[in-house]
Amino acid sequence: MAMVCLSDFEAYAKKYLPKIAWDFFAAGADDCSTRDENILAYKRIHFRPRMLQDVSMMDTRTKLLGTEINFPVGIAPTGFHQLAWPDGEKSTARAAKAMNTCYIASTYSTCTLEEISAAAPGGLRWFQLYIHRNRAVSQQLVQRATASGFQGLVLTADLPYTGKRRDDVRNGFCLPPHMKLKNLEGAFEVCKISLLDPSVTWNDIYWLRSLTNLPIIIKGILTKEDAELAVRHGVQGIIVSNHGGRQLDGGPATIDALVEVVDAVQGRVEVYLDGGIRKGSDVLKALALGAKCVFIGRPALWGLAYK
Ligand code: FNR
Repeated sequence: MAMVCLSDFEAYAKKYLPKIAWDFFAAGADDCSTRDENILAYKRIHFRPRMLQDVSMMDTRTKLLGTEINFPVGIAPTGFHQLAWPDGEKSTARAAKAMNTCYIASTYSTCTLEEISAAAPGGLRWFQLYIHRNRAVSQQLVQRATASGFQGLVLTADLPYTGKRRDDVRNGFCLPPHMKLKNLEGAFEVCKISLLDPSVTWNDIYWLRSLTNLPIIIKGILTKEDAELAVRHGVQGIIVSNHGGRQLDGGPATIDALVEVVDAVQGRVEVYLDGGIRKGSDVLKALALGAKCVFIGRPALWGLAYK
């Protein structure tokens, strides 16, 4: 089969991944309205195209907090890459480096931070953090990320509890015994993700700041109020995200939330977006509405499944 667009990779992944893995990657919370809306919202936005603008030379490069990448599409943090491909996050890191873009590695990786770094030395990598009830665990992760060359810390703000993903409940989803949440080995058992700390507040940004000099990027912001709070708490970047519709069902599509965040921020920090990006024209719409860069979640997993 010729692979000509991301939907082809999606179809491939659906056909060849074990059902339990496919369902986990595809899942949205509850009715999946927000997951689906992330994609539909792009179809309601139309270009106002101008002609005769000399497009013989095109340059897709941009900078993320000062570091140049080849094009404005990075890889969003997603867990459990070994479900898609045996080398897991090491492959993702190599691919991101080969394309000279940014890879945000998840707390819930099936390879260690150090393995991910070693797989693609010098690549642009940020580490995504969930804050655990046992703060020592999170503190250690931040220190390891800093020591192994990660250049940014992404705090995910939209998962005080895990959304209800119906197929995962039906399947009794759990990591296969030979896969481990390598960054957290010993910290807790694999199916007990509820050890995340639901009491996290804005003040914890100050706590994170005390642990590291890395730039802090907050992921999961959808309103002007929270964008303002993020800026006031000293973050360097905001990712407008609804976790691919896996958390709160019924919230806005990220492309619809982007404008209010960009307006509130007024250029004080960089604003990025993820959720539903499936085509170059989606990227263009997000950039035209003020995002500096976008990130893809599920499509990178489909790519892994395709080797
Ligand atoms: C995610 N996402 C996510 N986010 C995060 O901060 N930490 C994580 O560990 C995960 N894990 C995760 C697993 C899977 C299977 C998916 C699909 C998503 C959310 C992710 O970073 C991103 O916000 C969305 O995936 C973006 O939407 P698209 O590109 O998948 O539509």
